[in-house]
Amino acid sequence: MSEELQVAIDGPASAGKSTVAKLVAKKFKYVYCDTGAMYRAITLAAMQAKVALDDDAAVTNIAQATVITFKPGNRVQQVFIGQQDITQAIRKPEVTNNVSTVAAIKDVRTEMVKQQRVIASHGGIVMDGRDIGTTVLPNAQVKIFLVASAHERAVRRYNENIKKGIETPLVQLQKEIEIRDKKDSTRAVSPLKQAEDAVLVDTTSLSIDQVVKKISTIIMKIQHELS
Ligand code: CDP
Ligand code: CDP
Repeated sequence: MSEELQVAIDGPASAGKSTVAKLVAKKFKYVYCDTGAMYRAITLAAMQAKVALDDDAAVTNIAQATVITFKPGNRVQQVFIGQQDITQAIRKPEVTNNVSTVAAIKDVRTEMVKQQRVIASHGGIVMDGRDIGTTVLPNAQVKIFLVASAHERAVRRYNENIKKGIETPLVQLQKEIEIRDKKDSTRAVSPLKQAEDAVLVDTTSLSIDQVVKKISTIIMKIQHELS
């Protein structure tokens, strides 16, 4: 039996984390956990409750009271708060543009990290986010840091939006990505940062398939070393 590893995939917005993490999880029959969706869920819950997002205590109360669950779907993993299917709602621009503010609240992070460690406790998990290799699972056997140029990431977002029938100017998308990168990398608590023992994978000119292959090779090598 191969080892059931913890695989941490971190990196900035639109580097390809969730697309690749999902495929890698499928290949190894591991569970996939999208931690960005958890911060998005808390942001949405706070907005629905009409709580000011800079009111740390109120947003933290919401984080502690919100039960987030994932259900594997055909194409996308479904996300729920209680019985409410929030899979689509958490991808709305209002949520995207506010999520970094909520994710910078220390006590919100403490609560999310606690939940994420429970989800990952048995191994056999691919978890993606910003702080998985540095904070959530510092002992993960596989750590990947995925990057791509801001321009390429804006193009990816643009193409994604076009598929949904939304046309947002490329320059605006690139600016939003750069603002979020800055907020995520400079916040005091668990900033976006490559773990010292993470492998850097630049996806700027790689296809999804090529990235999945690269990561799979790394996982198999570590499985082999540990067996
Ligand atoms: O998919 P995209 O890269 O746009 O973002 P996401 O993975 O859905 O994450 C949304 C936001 O949640 C990020 O911009 C971070 O502010 C925050 N986040 C975080 O702080 N820590 C994580 N482990 C995951 C996400
Ligand atoms: O999770 P994250 O925000 O890092 O990125 P994503 O949502 O997985 O990927 C953003 C978009 O880039 C998706 O539409 C992917 O299909 C696309 N992508 C790509 O074109 N080439 C890659 N090597 C990886 C992702």
